[in-house]
Amino acid sequence: MALLNILEFPDPRLRTVAEPVKDVNGKIAMLADNMLETMYAAPGIGLAASQVNMHLRLLVVDISEDNSSPLVLINPEIIAREGEIETNEGCLSIPGYFEPVYRSEKIEVTAIDREGNPFTLTADDLLSVCIQHEMDHLEGKLFVDYISDTKRQMIRKKLLKQRKHRE
Ligand code: NI
Repeated sequence: MALLNILEFPDPRLRTVAEPVKDVNGKIAMLADNMLETMYAAPGIGLAASQVNMHLRLLVVDISEDNSSPLVLINPEIIAREGEIETNEGCLSIPGYFEPVYRSEKIEVTAIDREGNPFTLTADDLLSVCIQHEMDHLEGKLFVDYISDTKRQMIRKKLLKQRKHRE
């Protein structure tokens, strides 16, 4: 397995709309495995393929404390939603920043797993929020799109400054 490079805001590649996965083959399974490894190493609870510059509809999540519940969702679709929940969200592509975002509290999702089998998942609370956040990435959308322009610009400037210092 291999650690993948995570794109950081405001990298324009994060704005790419991802393409559906046509064939769940060994390459896709390997990408999912590498994404899980990258997410655990970060550490994070969710990662979308868009964030590792692979513009395919694939995401991984694991909200467990001990990395025991990896989930791979390929071509995910939300088929039902219910309620509303506000969570302080963060993102591996926007390191160090957390802002409150409203999402559906409960969702029903259909997807394909890493073996190519379709499944339906009902998720609530953190898992629901996490899946919705990762699905936004597939549309080129980031959690900072939900906050004020002023705050987003401030985060953008600070991240660009930090990156300059790193280089
Ligand atoms: Ni994210």
